[in-house]
Amino acid sequence: MQRFSSWTIGLHWLSVGLVIGAYTSVNLKDAFSDYRISELLRLVHFNCGGLLWGVMMARFVIFITRSKAVAIVPPIARLQQVISKLMHYLMFACFLSLPILGALSLALQQQSWPFLGIMTPILGEDFKASVQLHQFHEQIATIGYFLVGLHALAAFYHHFVRKDNTLLRMLPGRREHHHTKP
Ligand code: HEM
Ligand code: HEM
Repeated sequence: MQRFSSWTIGLHWLSVGLVIGAYTSVNLKDAFSDYRISELLRLVHFNCGGLLWGVMMARFVIFITRSKAVAIVPPIARLQQVISKLMHYLMFACFLSLPILGALSLALQQQSWPFLGIMTPILGEDFKASVQLHQFHEQIATIGYFLVGLHALAAFYHHFVRKDNTLLRMLPGRREHHHTKP
């Protein structure tokens, strides 16, 4: 069975981990009365999100430059192909914009934070813009849950109901070698 490249597979599952890290940390943040734990979870959120931006950028470059995705067998309808492509673009848009909105919102209210140990720059003070960016960040993050949920459901539908190779292509494993083909 043919799979996606190791980079595509590795970065896909790395981004899944970072998405889980970003959502979990921010949602747990207020569950602790100890402010040091909340503060730590906030930094985990910022750093998972920041790293995710880099990973999604790399994935996006691969996504738009590769000649063709590994085919799904048995093949899916043309309309399904278009919808899945649209869905993938939406997920890139979501997780590439979220870190920028979050980081801008902090920078515009003079908040610097350590990204992998390096303090981020701040921008001129603009609380109104900062609050708006923050709200936008929340709304896109909410949409993100639905995109990922739908995406995972689609993957399981393909695997368990349609029983095609959609999911298997994205799982790590032995690569097929075509010694016999020219
Ligand atoms: C793609 C990655 C990210 C996702 C999925 C994400 C998601 C979220 C979610 C779900 C919330 C909670 C919103 C609510 O309270 O309803 C949130 C809050 C927030 N996020 Fe993000 N975020 C991401 C990246 C970032 C980054 C990189 C930063 C900044 C460097 C950031 C800054 C914030 C801030 C400041 C808040 C408000 C939290 C607070 O009250 O302290 N986010 N984010
Ligand atoms: C349990 C969770 C997940 C499962 C089972 C899953 C499964 C898959 C599968 C099977 C594909 C290949 C689809 C195709 O070729 O049409 C795929 C692609 C993709 N997934 Fe996920 N995924 C999950 C979570 C996520 C998350 C959290 C993100 C967001 C960061 C994400 C972003 C993407 C993107 C952008 C693609 C298209 C990438 C490409 O073709 O190179 N996935 N996923």
